[in-house]
Amino acid sequence: MEHYKELLLKAKEAMAYAYTPYSKFNVGAAVLTKSGKIYTGCNIENASFGATNCAERTALFKAVSEGEKEITDIAVVSSSGDFTYPCGICRQVISEFMREGNLIFENSKGEIKVIKLSEIYPYSFTKENLL
Ligand code: THU
Repeated sequence: MEHYKELLLKAKEAMAYAYTPYSKFNVGAAVLTKSGKIYTGCNIENASFGATNCAERTALFKAVSEGEKEITDIAVVSSSGDFTYPCGICRQVISEFMREGNLIFENSKGEIKVIKLSEIYPYSFTKENLL
């Protein structure tokens, strides 16, 4: 539980950097790597809309681009007040680097929810399918 709280805190800190002039919907994420490092990210919108990057992918891509390819936990928070679950694209990207890990969410009431990726993204397309 303690490391969930730390990850949620880091996700909240990262949410402060969200670039959301279009939706005003701010999201923060923090990923914990197998080696124990934490990488954070926020959503970064774009005038083209389609080029927007979600907070989860920002955090994950930061980790992978620094050589960390195994993720054990991801915490996500948003400005909505509700639990905010990753979009379909993020679920697929997360599944590439985290198979058995935990997704951790907190709402504005301070309630914490912890689930497995397989609960919200079963039968994912993986690199094994390509072999
Ligand atoms: N968004 C995220 O960053 N992560 C999510 O889990 C849901 C959606 C962003 C994308 C966009 O900037 C805004 O939230 C509204 O969709």
